[in-house]
Amino acid sequence: MSVTYNENAKIFRLRAKDTDYILKIAPGGYLAHVYFGKKVPDEDLTYLLRLDENPFTPETNNRDKACYMDTLPFEYPCFGLGDYREAAFRIMDENGMSTCDLRYLSHRIYRGKPALDGLPATFATEDSGAETLEVVLEDKPAALEVTLIYTAFDKLDVITRSAIVKNVGKRPCTLTRVYSACVEFDTHEFDMITLNGSWARERAVERCRLHHGKQSVDSMRGESSHQNNPFTALCSHTADEDTGEVYGFNFVYSGNFISQAEVTQHKKTRYLMGINDLDFSWLLEEGESFTAPEVVMVYSDSGLGKMSRTFHDLYRNNLIRGEYKDKRRPILINNWEATYFDFNTEKLIDIAKEAAKSGIEMLVMDDGWFGHRDSDNSSLGDWFVYEKKLDGGLKYLVDEVNKLGLKFGIWFEPEMVSPDSQLFKEHPDWAIQVPGRELTLCREQYVLDYSRKEVRDHIYSMMKKILDSANIEYIKWDMNRQLTEVGSAVLPSNRQRELWHRYVLGVYELMDRLTTEYPHILLENCSGGGARFDPGMLYYSPQIWCSDDTDAIERLKIQYGTSMCYPCSAMGAHVSDCPNHTVGRSTPFSTRGNVAMVGTFGYELDITKIPQQDRDAIPGQIEQFNKYNALVRTGDHYRIGNMFEDNTWDAWMFVSKDKSDALFEFVQVIGRPNERSRRIKLKGLDPDKYYYEESDPDFKLSGAALMQCGINIGGIWGDYQSKIMHFMAAE
Ligand code: GLA
Repeated sequence: MSVTYNENAKIFRLRAKDTDYILKIAPGGYLAHVYFGKKVPDEDLTYLLRLDENPFTPETNNRDKACYMDTLPFEYPCFGLGDYREAAFRIMDENGMSTCDLRYLSHRIYRGKPALDGLPATFATEDSGAETLEVVLEDKPAALEVTLIYTAFDKLDVITRSAIVKNVGKRPCTLTRVYSACVEFDTHEFDMITLNGSWARERAVERCRLHHGKQSVDSMRGESSHQNNPFTALCSHTADEDTGEVYGFNFVYSGNFISQAEVTQHKKTRYLMGINDLDFSWLLEEGESFTAPEVVMVYSDSGLGKMSRTFHDLYRNNLIRGEYKDKRRPILINNWEATYFDFNTEKLIDIAKEAAKSGIEMLVMDDGWFGHRDSDNSSLGDWFVYEKKLDGGLKYLVDEVNKLGLKFGIWFEPEMVSPDSQLFKEHPDWAIQVPGRELTLCREQYVLDYSRKEVRDHIYSMMKKILDSANIEYIKWDMNRQLTEVGSAVLPSNRQRELWHRYVLGVYELMDRLTTEYPHILLENCSGGGARFDPGMLYYSPQIWCSDDTDAIERLKIQYGTSMCYPCSAMGAHVSDCPNHTVGRSTPFSTRGNVAMVGTFGYELDITKIPQQDRDAIPGQIEQFNKYNALVRTGDHYRIGNMFEDNTWDAWMFVSKDKSDALFEFVQVIGRPNERSRRIKLKGLDPDKYYYEESDPDFKLSGAALMQCGINIGGIWGDYQSKIMHFMAAE
């Protein structure tokens, strides 16, 4: 049983693999948080609710309610009753009052895991052994019921949370904050790890010691963003890749979010995650409800590496869906960095011809094939073929590409409209805007109001026409600007602040429609590179373009940071040309291949123009990708190097679940004197097994030696060089 309830003690215990999460209905009916961490015997831990400081001990002295409220660890703290820490829930009732008082009403426990209406979420499978606890809290005066939903996965150290708020009364009430999770920790001795960055350098790992007061990362950009990812880990100060306690939080959502830790006067930590409440409100009329997206919580007693591997397993098995979920993805060639907007049918066929010779399996036609788009200043929203460029039409092109033995994929940016487009001329009010104010342009484009069904329907019907007109087997769904002047032409004034969230729900709805009607199409998400690399998007697309920075060395950091919670098998990664278009660096073709190989793999270059020796190397790279892809997709990932700490080298491994097969990759970023003979300790092997290394017939060492003593990485000459080693267990 993953979830139990002790009626006498009024204690709920959720057990996920080796993790316990314990809560209690405390005196007064408040739902209190008792414990989250490594599993403990079934004994009374409610002393954790009391503070040693006198005189206010919550269980015996409930006279001073305000003090009780300010010290009790809450499962879902609300605003206005004397809990002066940050709340998870706030309202504005019809009288303009914000006080709220949530008390236990009922609960239920059941096997499985519910879906969240209109939202992406992890799901239970037959063998994931998930069990769910729902606790209903009520605020009587406002007639609100808040259902907290917890699911424990009994084969993974994962607990998920979300909340549904329902207006069970007759009077309207406005929600001004509905976070998804609050977790109270009995200590403040944590480091906070976040993934921050910018365009072309997404998800850089940053680690800071928690201090008194509040510290947070967030997005108010309408998407999860390049700048901050909806991920946070709280870990012990000494935690590293392999040791120490870590709590990982990841928000299954693609819009505005907040992830905040607060160290309180008593040196405890309150951690909150949810939809950012800045510029947010949601009106609940009689009978209506609001669903807060899911937070995935992972506990690790063995460092960051174990936390990451738990997220990877969960997302690969219980989040990513569709025909490509467990499949090797086609090796594609994308024409963006090859041609930018300057292409036509002939050019694409030339690329396809050369690609076919090398064993590439799909041509992806990127931006520029529609309307009259010759640069980024027009035509978004006009999803019909630009005949001048694609002479002969789309079907002709796709057929020709198919005849060469390649699949065909296409780029869309469905959420956008250019001022210079037929769509905008016909429907200027479809762009998100505030009447009477100038619309801000970004990349010469506006954002469509996806809260409106007619907008989504129209865009979908245009996309459908294209998809039905030719044999299209892949879509790159891009989103190249963030939201400004957030106003809708159709929402009433008391619902305008709902637009941020309604926009995201609209995007999800359209992605759902697309993937349901075209299940065979492989969907890759993208947002100016990796601005929407989040679990919400992974629910609809099994892969996401990691970054517009395709330089192999920059990618070491980007892919390392991304791997904190997202599986490598979902990272869009391509071999591109040199000097690299973003940073101007030249790296060996082999290193570009070795780095891209641990993602979805493909090429983003003009194959008709690259040096012959690079072209000749492609079949070998493809063979190598095919050989190791199953291991990358299904194995355990171990980070060994850390470019954020030492940017002279990097290394990582993938180890099969049965520990019989392991891939080790090393990149020498900078060649340095007297550092050419490095000894690197491997990870994740079976200490009792003996391993061969494929390229060296004399090599045989125990897993114990490989992990405790290491291997020699010698004789690598020059910057940006890389090496692959393949270890196989002896029978
Ligand atoms: C974004 C994407 C790129 C490319 C361009 C096209 O920047 O990240 O890969 O598709 O848009 O405009």
